[in-house]
Amino acid sequence: TVSPAHSASTASTLITNIASLVTNDSSLGDRSPLGLVHDAAVAIEGDRVVWTGDQSKAPATDNRVDAGGRAVIPGFVDSHSHLVFAGDRTQEFNARMSGRPYSAGGIRTTVAATRAASDAELAANVTRYLREALHQGTTTFETKSGYGLTVEDEARALRVAAAHTDEVTYLGAHIVAPEFAEDPAGYVALVTGEMLDACAPYARWIDVFCEKGAFDGDQARAILSAGKAKGLHPRIHANQLSYGPGVQLAVELDAASADHCTHLTDADVDALASGDTVATLLPGAEFSTRAEWPDARRLLDAGVTVALSTDCNPGSSFTSSVPFCVALAVRDMGMTPDEALWSATAGGAAALRRTDIGRVTPGAYADLTLLDAPSHVHLAYRPGVPLVTGVWRRGERVL
Ligand code: NIG
Ligand code: FE
Repeated sequence: TVSPAHSASTASTLITNIASLVTNDSSLGDRSPLGLVHDAAVAIEGDRVVWTGDQSKAPATDNRVDAGGRAVIPGFVDSHSHLVFAGDRTQEFNARMSGRPYSAGGIRTTVAATRAASDAELAANVTRYLREALHQGTTTFETKSGYGLTVEDEARALRVAAAHTDEVTYLGAHIVAPEFAEDPAGYVALVTGEMLDACAPYARWIDVFCEKGAFDGDQARAILSAGKAKGLHPRIHANQLSYGPGVQLAVELDAASADHCTHLTDADVDALASGDTVATLLPGAEFSTRAEWPDARRLLDAGVTVALSTDCNPGSSFTSSVPFCVALAVRDMGMTPDEALWSATAGGAAALRRTDIGRVTPGAYADLTLLDAPSHVHLAYRPGVPLVTGVWRRGERVL
């Protein structure tokens, strides 16, 4: 029989022969922000990491997994997606690739399709995109409502989302619902009143699309403040299509994240550097809208915490692939491969105000991605190649 003391010191799984392990703990390995350990091992007990370090010092265990001299990284934390929707927007994409600009107006197409869909269709869509994401190394994701825009349809979207993740965001303020086109103030009253009451039980976060054609700074402040009063924490779609008040409002309200950050003044960058709001960059959106890239280098040089996520949605960024976003960020946004990897893991965790994910250190959830590559650098070096060959989520091997 195994004594309790013995079982506590024995890992249930030991992953060995890891050529390069990203821990995101700068007290480990090479002491860089990635805390890179070579010839490493990771011990897992239940759903948690219990030990990590040089494999020659690894604890004994019966259940060993040989990583085959490949790289292990923390599972990606995709802190921004819009997965509860129906239909797609192929025509709009085609038109855009023939020169038409992106505008928030396309959201209406998806609102109509989403309202018309059954609960089962919406749930099946979420499951499908999550499966895609998992196969690309994502172990935590945030997702939002925002394609319902009625009390029932928003609450339904959040119920569907909450069946798959704890990181659920109420985005009733995505655009003004078509029914309220002549009465935006009436829609803001609905979003901050009856709709908020119906949605708050399913959500952790509240979000607003603060943009021309969506909601202005005063409306966004009112909506986020109402959410805060109901116990939801703010995050904002800010400064995506144009300069505007979103980023500074995010910092003012201590939002966990200002998302997009494509058009920033020096004052916006200073505000982000002075607060705890993470800048979440979503290069899939610039890729798919042929817009200019957000300047990650400028933010990093100013000391801003940067997250990288997919923004997966049928309009502006129909990708579930964090590796794709990492490659874009390195190629076109001035990030090094190390910075991009950190932002897609620890950065995403920071944008969700979590310390139990996005790192491979004792006490964190055992969320790990095994790459068919000798190091994480290959994610950007070999763009478009499916390098994810193993995934552990909460200690369980799921791929
Ligand atoms: O994050 N910016 C607002 N919302 C989404 C786009 C939604 C859509 O086009 O359907 C975004 O890019
Ligand atoms: Fe978005």
